[in-house]
Amino acid sequence: MYSLDNYGTMIADRVRLDAHAEALRRVVTPSTVVVDIGAGTGIMSLLACKFGARRVYAVEPSPAVQLLVEAARDSGYADRIVVLQRRSNEVTLPERADVIVSDLRGVLPPFRTHFADIVDARERLLAKGGRLVPATDTVWIAPVSAQEAFEERRRPWQDRDGLVLRSALRVLDSSPFKHRARPEDLLGPAARWADIDYQRITSFALRGAGSCNVARAGTAHGLLAWFDTVLVEGVEYSNAPGTVDGIYGQFLFPWPEPISLQEGDSVAFDVRADPIGGDILWTWTSEIRRGGSLDAGTTRFRQSTLNSRLTLPDSLRKRAESFTPTLSPAGIRGLEVLEGIRAGKTVGEIAARLLETHPDRFRSMDDAQGFVAELIEHFCV
Ligand SMILES: C[S@@+](CC[C@H](N)C(=O)[O-])C[C@H]1O[C@@H](n2cnc3c(N)ncnc32)[C@H](O)[C@@H]1O
Repeated sequence: MYSLDNYGTMIADRVRLDAHAEALRRVVTPSTVVVDIGAGTGIMSLLACKFGARRVYAVEPSPAVQLLVEAARDSGYADRIVVLQRRSNEVTLPERADVIVSDLRGVLPPFRTHFADIVDARERLLAKGGRLVPATDTVWIAPVSAQEAFEERRRPWQDRDGLVLRSALRVLDSSPFKHRARPEDLLGPAARWADIDYQRITSFALRGAGSCNVARAGTAHGLLAWFDTVLVEGVEYSNAPGTVDGIYGQFLFPWPEPISLQEGDSVAFDVRADPIGGDILWTWTSEIRRGGSLDAGTTRFRQSTLNSRLTLPDSLRKRAESFTPTLSPAGIRGLEVLEGIRAGKTVGEIAARLLETHPDRFRSMDDAQGFVAELIEHFCV
């Protein structure tokens, strides 16, 4: 969940916001219906109204979207904005949208359920011939020198005073992280990793391979990735090193050790982003070819965020098709609450029953009501 300060930082990113404003200015007319997915505090919804949209549906599960109710009223758009505090895959609308605007990316476009959410919205909420903003993203990859970030991250986990801490390094080496590189940190021109056309994507996984020629000798610490976006034709921005510092930055896929590169070497990569359980499983293979050829001097790394998830084996086991789940004590209490709701009981009645049947778990009515409220938040309208 983002904080209000996070949303403020997003709004303060002028490159991003001005580009979205220009894109909306170009595609919104007085007859346009807009769906703002991931509305946050509603900045895109307000812009769409400013450019004349007939109706805007602001869809956002965070309570931050309630600020839009006030902002819409104060800006004079209350009659045109409908606020839906939900995830997009949970809403149905009375009409289809001419424009769906969103920014559901993280540092890179593969982020949580982004692609699945856009495909779902495109299929269910967008009118035939309607537009998605952004229209396309292109992701680039280049070998990067990032000594300070690499060392700073690893420093706390060096063995010291007889304590062996290095097991954490395995996790760090399997965790890509946000980084802000300078153009001179890139050791060669970038290669294209992926093109994402939001009107066309059908698969939620992304895989791409390529090769970067090393143009400048230096010590590399991994692969740097960033994206350029086309919001609508002619309205674009980039998060490449050296462009104005926006909210995104770049993503660094670290190598387990620094590698000295010479001009004429090449770095072949194969990077995959597989959505699993609401998150992205990243796998990146790097092959450092001396003089550009594949021979005995080639260094290979195969890394994956699978190794950074300390609890994954258990959660993977529970996802297996053959797994038969049983309710935990918390699950049993949850079921009682849901049954109470289905039977038409009030929050007070359900909480009182919980207090009576689980005195070891709930100490007060407040405590029990809090538990009921959490389930209501998730499962009730
Ligand atoms: C990066 S913020 C963008 C906020 C705002 N639109 C802006 O551009 O400043 C992304 C927002 O999308 C929301 N979000 C993510 N997936 C969503 C979905 N499927 N439906 C609705 N909101 C979603 C998140 O809660 C978050 O508030």
